[in-house]
Formats: sequence, structure tokens, C-alpha cells
Amino acid sequence: MNDILLAAPTDSAHWRRASAADLIEYLITRFHERHRVQLPELVRLARRVEHTHAGKPSCPSGLADVLETLYQELESHMLKEEQVLFPMLARGMHQQARAPISVMRFEHEHHFGALEEIGRLTDGLAVPPEACNTWRALYGGLQAFQEDLTQHIHLENDVLFLNSSHAAEGARDA
Ligand SMILES: [Fe+2]
Ligand SMILES: [Fe+2]
Repeated sequence: MNDILLAAPTDSAHWRRASAADLIEYLITRFHERHRVQLPELVRLARRVEHTHAGKPSCPSGLADVLETLYQELESHMLKEEQVLFPMLARGMHQQARAPISVMRFEHEHHFGALEEIGRLTDGLAVPPEACNTWRALYGGLQAFQEDLTQHIHLENDVLFLNSSHAAEGARDA
């Protein structure tokens, strides 16, 4: 399988001690750029599997469309982070960041909803005995994508955004 589809472990304890600028650079290169490679490839594989195995009860019908929609939503979400929110956080504009952070947290919940939908359509990514190599590559790639997106959102919600909220509260109470 293509290396880009494989998840690599990340260490949140390390990132809790890092600067916002370093964490932002890591989020963009390790997750945003990777999702931009992963998702078009997963859409392509899903279209092939749905086409080849149409009619089989285990065929994940509708998966390619769900992935295509998620790709568009994630792309617009990541652009807002890269162009608006991350520059604010890198400059320490924590009060101004509160509203965009709450929008991004809301969108993250929506992304988790899409992962649940993918789980329903693929029977929890269980590879059926009749699966061909493309089907196996698709579910392996989806597993890696799911782990990447979960870790990506965790580092934003529970490290980057949380640190900013604490800084905003500290500045207000000072
Ligand atoms: Fe992000
Ligand atoms: Fe995000």
C-alpha cells in the first residue's frame, strides 16, 4: 500500500509543551497535507469497489459520495484554520480566537459524524472474505485516515484550542 495512507504515531504529551507555532506547523504538514493526499485516493478506491462489486450485500454502497463530501468539508475547514485561526493563535490573539475556535470545534463534531457514517457503511471496516485487493487497500487506507483524523482533532481540541482558551481566561482575570 501507498505509504501516505499509513498512520504514524504522534505524541500529545510532547505537543502540550510545544509552542503554538510549532504545533501549527506540525498539524499542517502531518495532517492537513496528508488528508489532501488520502481523501482523493480513498474516493478513487471507493468508486472502483462500488462499481466492481455493486449488488453484493457487503458492498459499501454510497461510501464514495460520503468521502467526497467529507473531503470538500474538510478542505474548507482546513483552509479556515490555515488562513484565519492559526495565524491568530500564532500571534497570541486568544480573545479574538474564541469565536472561530467554537466554530472549528462544532465542525470537528460533524467530522466525527462522517466517521460514524463510514463505520456504518463498511460494517466497522470489517474486510469481507470476498474482498479483492482494492477493497482491502480501501479499508486499510480508511483505517489509517480514521486514526489520523482522530489524532488531528484531538491535538486541536485538547491541546492547541484548550491552551488558547486558558490563555484568554488568564488575560481576562489578570
Ligand atoms: Fe486542522
Ligand atoms: Fe480542525
